[in-house]
Amino acid sequence: MTNHEPFIDGAVETEEARGGVSRRSLLLTVGGAASLAAVPQVAADSISEGGPTASTRRVRLAVNGTRHELDLDTRQSLLDVLREGLDLTGTKKGCNQGACGACTVLLNGKRVVSCLTLAVMHDGAEIETIEGLEKNGELHPLQSAFIEHDALQCGFCTPGQIMSAVGCIAEGHAGSPAEIQFWMSGNICRCGAYPGIVAAVADAAKGT
Ligand code: FES
Ligand code: FES
Repeated sequence: MTNHEPFIDGAVETEEARGGVSRRSLLLTVGGAASLAAVPQVAADSISEGGPTASTRRVRLAVNGTRHELDLDTRQSLLDVLREGLDLTGTKKGCNQGACGACTVLLNGKRVVSCLTLAVMHDGAEIETIEGLEKNGELHPLQSAFIEHDALQCGFCTPGQIMSAVGCIAEGHAGSPAEIQFWMSGNICRCGAYPGIVAAVADAAKGT
């Protein structure tokens, strides 16, 4: 028993004795109402649907040049479809809320954070991921530049950085280190490899 309990019990008795609503009785009433509300909802869900509640839709995606027809849960992000449906795990899941850029891919040539877009919204789209950059055994110039400039430490952010850099260069936003920093600012590197990243993107941009 703590020093506070007698005081609380005393206060409860005093309020109830005066015919008011005590804190304890109020909590019991509210808590009971919440429990009663939750139980029928769960039961109704399982009875009315008779199983999983997810709906699916057929979606066609061309990923790194390969065409897929997929029956997708309408709630799946593009990131989850790539990683879990197509086993393309090069695209990373960092924050899963649009804040880090680790999941960046090209969607119809434009860079997007794939964790924030539903795959079913993109029927017929062309997607490019980090796995699609190497061609005929040759690294993409950005991949080579990242290696040359030691633009990574743990490497977790690197696929997103490189895909974002592909978009950044294609947009014409890689004309100077300051411009690269600005237009790549959605891609976070927790290892702080930014000097190498900017140098690599600048180098690759010169070669295009
Ligand atoms: Fe998509 Fe971080 S995982 S932005
Ligand atoms: Fe580790 Fe960027 S290299 S987060």
